[in-house]
Amino acid sequence: MFKIADIELQNRVVIAPMAGVSNIAFRTIMKEFGAGLIYAEMVSDKALTFGNKKTVKMIEVVDEERPLTMQVFGGDLETIVEGAKIIDQHSNCDIIDLNMGCPVNKVIKSDAGAKLLLDPQKIYTIVKAVVEAVEKPVTVKMRIGWDKNTIYAVEIAQICEKAGAKAIAVHARTRKQMYSGKADWSYIKQIKDAVDIPVIGNGDITTPEDAKRMLEETGCDAVMIGRGVLGNPWLVEQTVQYLETGTYNRDISIEERFHRMSNHMERLIALKGEKVAMLEMRNHGPWYVKGLPGASHVRKALSQVSTKDDLLQIIEEYQNHRKEGPH
Ligand SMILES: Cc1cc2nc3c(=O)[nH]c(=O)nc-3n(C[C@H](O)[C@H](O)[C@H](O)COP(=O)(O)O)c2cc1C
Repeated sequence: MFKIADIELQNRVVIAPMAGVSNIAFRTIMKEFGAGLIYAEMVSDKALTFGNKKTVKMIEVVDEERPLTMQVFGGDLETIVEGAKIIDQHSNCDIIDLNMGCPVNKVIKSDAGAKLLLDPQKIYTIVKAVVEAVEKPVTVKMRIGWDKNTIYAVEIAQICEKAGAKAIAVHARTRKQMYSGKADWSYIKQIKDAVDIPVIGNGDITTPEDAKRMLEETGCDAVMIGRGVLGNPWLVEQTVQYLETGTYNRDISIEERFHRMSNHMERLIALKGEKVAMLEMRNHGPWYVKGLPGASHVRKALSQVSTKDDLLQIIEEYQNHRKEGPH
């Protein structure tokens, strides 16, 4: 167990924010599998201040998924403070996180996300202003730098702490790396050694053993998992179990996988309606069957689904085919 400000987390497994993924449907699943803390997908400060309906809905939080961190991104002091205030007053979340790692051009162009990593003074100004403007604890999620020549990771972490951030999550890649290469966990250790607030290590955890190794190698307080849990919520349960007991259950049946896939679909339909839900299932479906025997055909079919019935039929056909055995 560890704490961020006075919020107690039940374990050291944290789920990363993922745009287009980390909505209530996904988050409640992560919680049921035992996550200690879940981040919601990033929301735009400007969209919040304009009262954009879709964005305002994105800051809704249900009690079952708490403790929950809501993340906001922005590059202008005034609007990011305003956005954070709207979250503070209108969202049932526990923590407000500032995005200082998003590498995509649309976000960088507005001087937000990882672009901030080039301007430590601006980071200080933003974090301090947000901390002063809101009641909820404020945290920062950062990459280690812009590119290999501009890695101010330790300096930035210290600046965030000084400005009042209550924890830092570090994705140990530069902006330039995007998602390529390997995350360099040595920076997580350097940051952990340099600040007193909790440090959440992030990057390339895909097994419970990876999580344990990151905790041991870096001394970080918690691990954050992103892509590893896509279509694989069992990783959350397995990691919690492994960190507590040194073993974990590896036995996940194909029936269980399909059950979870259709359950995820039902939650998305309840949240967004069938049409939008099925567009999102075109990603989730293939993730849930990754690695299953003979799944390339079913993966392709799942990536094109348009209706709930389509998806259920694909599952049924795959199951029947398996029962009949190889021809
Ligand atoms: C589809 C996708 C969406 C993401 N969206 C966000 C986001 O909204 N905010 C953020 O801080 N990071 C975002 N990230 C980065 C992740 O939170 C995480 O830092 C990164 O994937 C590295 O962790 P991993 O190796 O465990 O996936 C996203 C990553 C992916 C794959």
